[in-house]
Amino acid sequence: MDDRGHTHLIELHNITKSYQVGAVSVEAVRDISLTVKRGEIFGIIGHSGAGKSTLLRCVNLLERPTSGSVKVGEVELTKLSQRQLQAQRRKIGMIFQHFNLLSMSTVRDNIAFPLKLAGLTGTAARDRVDELLKLVQLEQHADKYPAQLSGGQKQRVGIARALAANPDVLLCDEATSALDPQTTNSILSLLLDINAKLGITILLITHEMQVIRSICDRVAVIDKGEIVELGDVLHVFLKPEHPVTRDFVDQVSDTSAASVLLEKRQGRLLRVTYVGELTYEPILYNAVKQTPVQFVILQGTVSRMKQTPYGQLIVELLGEDLEIDNVVAALRKEGLEVDTL
Ligand SMILES: Nc1ncnc2c1ncn2[C@@H]1O[C@H](COP(=O)(O)OP(=O)(O)OP(=O)(O)O)[C@@H](O)[C@H]1O
Ligand SMILES: [Mg+2]
Repeated sequence: MDDRGHTHLIELHNITKSYQVGAVSVEAVRDISLTVKRGEIFGIIGHSGAGKSTLLRCVNLLERPTSGSVKVGEVELTKLSQRQLQAQRRKIGMIFQHFNLLSMSTVRDNIAFPLKLAGLTGTAARDRVDELLKLVQLEQHADKYPAQLSGGQKQRVGIARALAANPDVLLCDEATSALDPQTTNSILSLLLDINAKLGITILLITHEMQVIRSICDRVAVIDKGEIVELGDVLHVFLKPEHPVTRDFVDQVSDTSAASVLLEKRQGRLLRVTYVGELTYEPILYNAVKQTPVQFVILQGTVSRMKQTPYGQLIVELLGEDLEIDNVVAALRKEGLEVDTL
C-alpha cells in the first residue's frame, strides 16, 4: 500500500501567487511546497504581509495559485472544474479572524447554513446543530444573534459552522488575533480538543508564537512569500536558525532582556536545554553539589510546548576550568543539551 497517500493530507507543490496591481506584479507567495500530515496541527507564522492568508486561501482555492498544484486527500483541487470543487470544499472547513458570521441569522441558523447547502434539513439538521452547539459549548446561546455574543463566543460559532459538514481539514486564518489572551487560550484548547477527539487536521496561520507553542506539532516560518524555516515546533523553538524565526521565539522567551545580564560575567556561560520529564528533576543542583563549582541562573524559560514540558536556562558556572568541564559532562550524561555561549 502507498503509505504516503495516507500520511499526507495536504500537499502544496510549488505554489506561486502573484497579484497584478496596476502595471506591477506583486508576488505574494513564491514557490512554496509544503505537506501537512493527517491528524497534525500545522502552524504557519510570519509577519504582516508575509503571504500567510494568500497561502492559506490557496489551499481551498478561495485564491487560485498563479502556478503550482494543491492536493487535499487524494484529490488534486487545481485540476477540478468549479462544480467539482464545490463538493470537495465541504471537506475543508475554514474560520476567520473576524468570524464572518451572518449578522441577520441566529447562532443556530449560522451553524445550520452549510448543512442547508449540503441538502441536509429537518430533524437531521436540527440534531446535527444541537451536537455542534454542545461541542463548542454554546447550548445556552442558540437563539442569539452574533451582535449579542462576545468575541470568543462568535469564534465558537465560526468553529461549529466550519465543522458542520464533517470536514477532514480545518483552516484557521488568525482565528485568535481579535481575542484577549484568556479567550485566546479557551479557543486554542477547543481546537486541540477537536483535533484530538475528531481527528481533524488543522492548518493555521498566525503572527503569535504563543499560538504555535500551545497547540502546533510542526511550524513553517514564512517571510516575503517564502518558507525560511520548517520543522517540529520543539526543534524550531529551541534551535531557531533564521533571524525571522528568532524574532518570533523572542516574543515568548524575552532573551533580549537577558543580554544585559550577560555583560561582564566572569564565569563560563552556558545555555542548558532540557525536554520532557527532565524538567522536573534537580539535575543542575545534583551536578554541582559534590563539586566546588557554583552556578548563577541569569535567564530562564520553563514552559510547555503542546503536551511537552521544557526548559532553557542561561547559566553561569563559577570555578576551576577542569571542575566546570566535569559539571558540563555530568549534565550531558543526564540528557541535557549544553552549549557554551
Ligand atoms: N487581492 C490582492 N491584490 C493585490 N495584492 C494583494 C492582494 N492580497 C494580498 N496582496 C499582497 O500580497 C502580500 C501578502 O498578503 P497576505 O494578506 O497574504 O499577507 P499576510 O501574511 O496574511 O498578512 P497579515 O498578517 O497582515 O494578514 C501583501 O503584500 C499584500 O499587499
Ligand atoms: Mg492575513
